[in-house]
Amino acid sequence: MFLSVVLLWLCVCFIVLQLKSRRPKNFPPGPPILPLLGNTLQLSLENPLKDFERLRKSYGDVYSIFIGPKPAVIINGVKAIKEAMVTKARDFAGRPQDLFVNDVTKDKGVILADYGSSWREHRRFALMTLRNFGLGKNSMEDRIHEEIKYTVNTLEKSIGKTMSPQVMFHNAASNIICQVLFARRYEYDNALIKVIVRCFTENSRLANGPWAMLYDSFPLIRYLPLPFMKAFKNAETVENLVNEFVKEHKKTRVPGEPRDFVDCYLDELEKVGDDGSSFSEDRICLYALDLYFAGTDTTSNTLLTGFLYLMNYPHVQERCQQEIDRVLEGKDRVSFEDRHKMPYVQAVIHEIQRVANTVPLSVFHCTTKDTELMGYSIPKGTMIIENLTSVLITLNKKVRVWGTESQADLQSIQVVHRLGSGDSEIYLIKCPAIICIECPPSAKNASMVGVHNCYHHLMC
Ligand code: HEM
Repeated sequence: MFLSVVLLWLCVCFIVLQLKSRRPKNFPPGPPILPLLGNTLQLSLENPLKDFERLRKSYGDVYSIFIGPKPAVIINGVKAIKEAMVTKARDFAGRPQDLFVNDVTKDKGVILADYGSSWREHRRFALMTLRNFGLGKNSMEDRIHEEIKYTVNTLEKSIGKTMSPQVMFHNAASNIICQVLFARRYEYDNALIKVIVRCFTENSRLANGPWAMLYDSFPLIRYLPLPFMKAFKNAETVENLVNEFVKEHKKTRVPGEPRDFVDCYLDELEKVGDDGSSFSEDRICLYALDLYFAGTDTTSNTLLTGFLYLMNYPHVQERCQQEIDRVLEGKDRVSFEDRHKMPYVQAVIHEIQRVANTVPLSVFHCTTKDTELMGYSIPKGTMIIENLTSVLITLNKKVRVWGTESQADLQSIQVVHRLGSGDSEIYLIKCPAIICIECPPSAKNASMVGVHNCYHHLMC
């Protein structure tokens, strides 16, 4: 009997050890891995950002964890992220294909498309078409000005009442991108847009929450009726709505005279015919939805953070207003070109983008071949997570305080942000004890001046 128990115990140990994932040779280090579970239980499922920071302290800027049985390399800090995403961009250009977000978007979008000809063709087409319809150009101004009228109107109507700026910003961002994609805008109380905004917001929350992490870690639970199923339902709802837009476009379009992104895609489909290109009718819907989602949630969350900060720092708001008034000189509309004369407003916008940290872990990448990073070996197909927070929120190095000879250890201060490049690198650092805006001459040259009162300009 005793022998049987020992043998059984040895068998169980052997099976468990066989199931245990192991780090390949010279793979980035990381915490001990549990069989099947990997490191999933050592991470907060709600918000793993603090865990990533803690692990960085133990294992350095490049380390690995196992999400269930799958390895992932976490990259932190400017040096490592730059080596991966700039110097070795092609090696790190893939996207993992077996995650919750891939399944929800049915692998037909562009953001999560893996590196290859289909991604290249669709990315090039998106960039070209979005540019033709005004993204990053002056013509976008008119759309934005038009939308601002509605936003101001909404704010005026809510004077003396409470309102949710989240919904308002979502609607505004959604309408601007919607006009580029589908040549239409919606009133803020439109039932259809409310459904789309709800689906986007819920899916964004689900994709960044514990259920997505569990879905990614344990493939066996994927078919169970758990809360992540809601994301598939939401995706189906918006897909059906966009399918209706596409059907309508097909009926009303004039070939060669595109009104929007969908018309351009339909024109392109006719042009490429059956020549084996990756363009296909069944991709239009999820492709457009991908851009819709990418452009709506990110922009509205950044705006939301921006307004929160401006409310908390009314003197910054006031200084922005003074600069805008000075540059406009009585004109009633600001133009895209005016930004060159508004260094303070531009610096505030940069700072808002930094503190908003809208996509803290970026979109996951994946290696396209066996490669190396900071001396470690990373096999093809490994999931790569860029910890953008590590770049936006802290910078682990010494800097010289501008105008003084003192050295500041950035770990002991709170927040750093780089403005400018090369010789005129300027860092904004949060020093709660000091209320001061400094403006180094090189900053003026680079059209960058101070931002917050709680921030100190420092130069490397
Ligand atoms: C504040 C606004 C925005 C933020 C913070 C943001 C952030 C990001 C980030 C972090 C990535 C991942 C980059 C990577 O894989 O390394 C990304 C990718 C992408 N974003 Fe944005 N984004 C914003 C606005 C937009 C807008 C307005 C659009 C277009 C309508 C857009 C379309 C895309 C696309 C298509 C990709 C995938 C690019 C590729 O795979 O090559 N984004 N964005």
